[in-house]
Amino acid sequence: MQIIQTVLELRNCLKNQASIAFVPTMGNLHAGHIHLVEIAKRHAECVVVSIFVNPLQFGQNEDLATYPRTLEADCEKLKTAGVNIVFAPSADEMYPEAQTMTIILPPIANDLCGASRPGHFAGVATVVMKLFNIVQPNVAVFGKKDFQQLFIIRELVKQFNLPIEIIAGDTLREASGLALSSRNGYLTDTQRAVASQLNSALRSIVISVKNGNKDFAQLQQQAIALLKFQGWEVDYISIRSSTTLNPASINEKNLVVLVAAKIGKTRLIDNIEFCIET
Ligand code: PAJ
Repeated sequence: MQIIQTVLELRNCLKNQASIAFVPTMGNLHAGHIHLVEIAKRHAECVVVSIFVNPLQFGQNEDLATYPRTLEADCEKLKTAGVNIVFAPSADEMYPEAQTMTIILPPIANDLCGASRPGHFAGVATVVMKLFNIVQPNVAVFGKKDFQQLFIIRELVKQFNLPIEIIAGDTLREASGLALSSRNGYLTDTQRAVASQLNSALRSIVISVKNGNKDFAQLQQQAIALLKFQGWEVDYISIRSSTTLNPASINEKNLVVLVAAKIGKTRLIDNIEFCIET
């Protein structure tokens, strides 16, 4: 496995590759990331994983400075997983000059997570576009854990005609239901013990909707009230069409329920995609 820090070196290394599968990450890797690597391995001869904590996607009061950076341990995991190349550029390598060119995103980027994280998805789209241009993969793998991010990346690829197939990986969870996340490391033992409440809230909504309850507004309000009672600061819980991410109409078959909430200072997200008969 090669660990490469510069764009030039990476380009040299990739120029004769027949097929490339790419998994972009911010590092501090867990089994969820490795699951995406396993998918990538099935789609190309050469698997490239990037590790870059992208300053552009963090807001002023967010955790850019404290985001866990564990490059050595990450590389060990990727080597064991059979990755060919790790691309771990510095911020100067990715942004040698101020990134004054940006991508203007559709309104969905200001909804859900985008409502409380202005500029976040523009930062994600910009770095992903740059990484796509640097790596030029045939296939790129993203997790459904970040459902809105996946949606926006698919839109980016479609609207800009990028010749890249986007593949979605399922969310890996702890036995409790808690979705694996680099930010779970911020949780105290007490917070960790209750963190699965977030997934439970989603699961009870899925059960209710599957049982025929289409009063989405009421289901959302009830779940928010319960989470607040349990000590969470809820950003949103929303039942959406999984194909458009618009608020779900009662005739919608393909649904996703998404949540973002804080326990203490840690903001966690989760979602469940599901289908119903109408
Ligand atoms: P990061 O949070 O490191 O996530 C990298 C990839 O891993 C994303 O596609 C994310 O959806 C996926 N992932 C995270 N937790 C997962 C889990 N429990 N199960 C399965 N997949 C999971 O997302 C980013 O980095 C950044 O925004 C990035 C796309 C790299 C751009 O900077």
